[in-house]
Amino acid sequence: MKNYIIHDPWHIIEAQYRPEHNEFSESIFSIGNGRMGQRGNFEENFSGKTLSGSYIAGVYYPDKTRVGWWKNGYPAYFAKVINSVNWIGLHIKINGETLDLVACTVQHFERRLDMKHGILDRSFIATLTNGIQVEVKSSRMYHMFHTETAALQYHLRLLNADARVELSSYLSGDVFNRDSNYDEKFWKTVDRNAEEYLRMVMETKKTNFLVETLLLNRFYHNSKLTDPQERTIHADRVSESVGIDAAMGDTLTIEKRVSIVSSTNHERGSLYEVAKSNLQAITRESFEQLKNKQHQAWQTIWKESDIQIEGDIAAQQAIRFNIFQLHQTYTGEDARLNIGPKGFTGEKYGGVTYWDTEAYCLPFYLSTQDVTVARNLLLYRYQHLQKAIENASKLGFKGGAALYPMVTINGEECHNEWEITFEEIHRNGAIAFAIFNYIRYTGDIAYLLPWGLEVLIAISRFWSQRVNWSVNKQKYVILGVTGPNEYENNVNNNWYTNTMAAWCLRYTLECLDRANEIDKTALEELMHKLGFSALETEKWRHIVDHLYYPDDKSRGIFLQQDDFLDKELIPANELPLAQRPLNQHWSWDRILRSCYIKQADVLQGLYFFEGNFDMDTIRRNYEFYEPLTVHESSLSPCVHCIIAAKLGKEDKAYEFYLRTARLDLDDYNNDTEEGLHITSMAGTWLSIVEGFAGMRVYNDQLHFKPFIPSNWESYAFHVQFRGVKLYVKVSRDNFEIKNLSESGINLIFNDRPFTVEPALTT
Ligand code: BGC
Repeated sequence: MKNYIIHDPWHIIEAQYRPEHNEFSESIFSIGNGRMGQRGNFEENFSGKTLSGSYIAGVYYPDKTRVGWWKNGYPAYFAKVINSVNWIGLHIKINGETLDLVACTVQHFERRLDMKHGILDRSFIATLTNGIQVEVKSSRMYHMFHTETAALQYHLRLLNADARVELSSYLSGDVFNRDSNYDEKFWKTVDRNAEEYLRMVMETKKTNFLVETLLLNRFYHNSKLTDPQERTIHADRVSESVGIDAAMGDTLTIEKRVSIVSSTNHERGSLYEVAKSNLQAITRESFEQLKNKQHQAWQTIWKESDIQIEGDIAAQQAIRFNIFQLHQTYTGEDARLNIGPKGFTGEKYGGVTYWDTEAYCLPFYLSTQDVTVARNLLLYRYQHLQKAIENASKLGFKGGAALYPMVTINGEECHNEWEITFEEIHRNGAIAFAIFNYIRYTGDIAYLLPWGLEVLIAISRFWSQRVNWSVNKQKYVILGVTGPNEYENNVNNNWYTNTMAAWCLRYTLECLDRANEIDKTALEELMHKLGFSALETEKWRHIVDHLYYPDDKSRGIFLQQDDFLDKELIPANELPLAQRPLNQHWSWDRILRSCYIKQADVLQGLYFFEGNFDMDTIRRNYEFYEPLTVHESSLSPCVHCIIAAKLGKEDKAYEFYLRTARLDLDDYNNDTEEGLHITSMAGTWLSIVEGFAGMRVYNDQLHFKPFIPSNWESYAFHVQFRGVKLYVKVSRDNFEIKNLSESGINLIFNDRPFTVEPALTT
């Protein structure tokens, strides 16, 4: 763990130069705007530890699969949202010596992310080996008000001497992915020049995404605009420079404004014109004006989605950090985009889509954004349905059965570890569950007929073929799977997967009935299109009624999988700390044989379907499984927080809250340097809203059953539900709910019905 991020309600602050942890800090100080984003890399040269990363949503490369032993059915590639043009770069020489913090004595270093306004600032004083001392202050932002643009400002002041300062500002296409499977470069430079603007036109190999970058530099000497003196064009880098004989106390400033556009959003032939007009729009404004616009854009975002906590700054900072990063990653306007587990903050997981979106992220968007955002997340999967059917047929399934990929960007599977690609099939269930969750929350049952039902039928077809009849058990079983707990592979009858499979079949049957009531003709047309008949539903019913669920009657628990109790059961808190996280210390086979659970598995099922289980069952399972869980997936603590809160285990719930909320800020799993855990950040939001406030939707109504951690004075948030916007505040001795809309709403508070009229406080 690390604990050097200073606690502050609206800022993330690193107040000391720590080159040894630079990659961790670069992840933490990532910024973005849903269209693109970047790690908190330094602008000037840095020869120390750094993972350079700037990413553009949807621009990916199919990196050829690399595995030790090829297995039939493996995907040919892993899609990666790739490191793209570096627009922030500065090369600075002072009396001939390059400014590189590694070679300097650094004082008063600070990186500060202003989450309220969406600005990343950095400042330091550096003494070069030639004795010259400079003060640097930089600010940069990815504009939320114009998402194809970004800007930065960099001031350098000479503190102790006159000096010759050479400033060179560049665009570089010389970028790599550290995780490239074959050390391949993913880009080719198509064009570059340095005329009115610095310009790089780059194209991805294989996928042929064309990306046009236009950069406008402005150099100032003591606020006086100075023309660039030299323009240089290299194979994949263009730059502009000035050389200034500056006096002690002088300030040199560079402002960089950039527009980055790609053929994912515009005609290839129009990219230059689009980028130019974007750039012109943001060069009409001063840097201060751009900052004001950025402030306003973030103000609007925070108005809808802030959570305020009184009495606990660490918790307050953390929830804002999580919400801030979610908004930087995904804005929901484009149904072709999704939420990568690392967003634009690192290379791991490739920036592509996992079940995380449906299982963890959807509720955040449902409650805080316009309904179109959640719907776009659903449509993303609808658009991929044919690919999911192809994917299933490659694995031997027939008749329109769909297996959605574990990892994808375009609908094709690109995860290539057999235990996950072929076995972690529960992801199909999460996609069905998201349809259910969306309809439950929004009441938009009309989603079923054009879109939802078709997906549900295809998923159910998969489950009905994936089960097999066990003569021995006289039940259907599901063999050879990996459940959510990836520290077990190739297990039989993972309780969560079996539960999900049966639920999917049952829910699809219910939806068929609903669709029949809503629009019989449309349903018949759909059934005709899909070649679907009542015969299939008969089999589904039989499976639902005869599926096998492993359990242990004496303990009153569900078994994570067959024979789970054969393991040596030693609670995780007896493991030496030096061996944690296990995945960085133990051999894989030792992990597989052990009882240790990476993330909620049985408990994930109890979380999704809590309404089907009584409190005692939930408690017994929680008390059995939680002590064996090592929470080495970022997705784990939030589910445990919600269940612990439900069970009245308030201290545990709070402990899990901090663990999910500060997972990256404090580096709980020692892996933040690879990038932030964006998808689990939605789980952090869930921990407060579902965990602490106990918000649920049952029978078309919102329910609340709040508690407040003992060290908090209050917490407050907004949610939208079926056209009604609510402000909810939980204090030590009060629950306040304000209806900010025009119509009243009936809801259930601590199991009792209430009506909250518009603008009234209850
Ligand atoms: C988790 C998966 C998750 C993936 C991406 C893995 O560590 O075990 O459940 O989908 O990370 O977040």
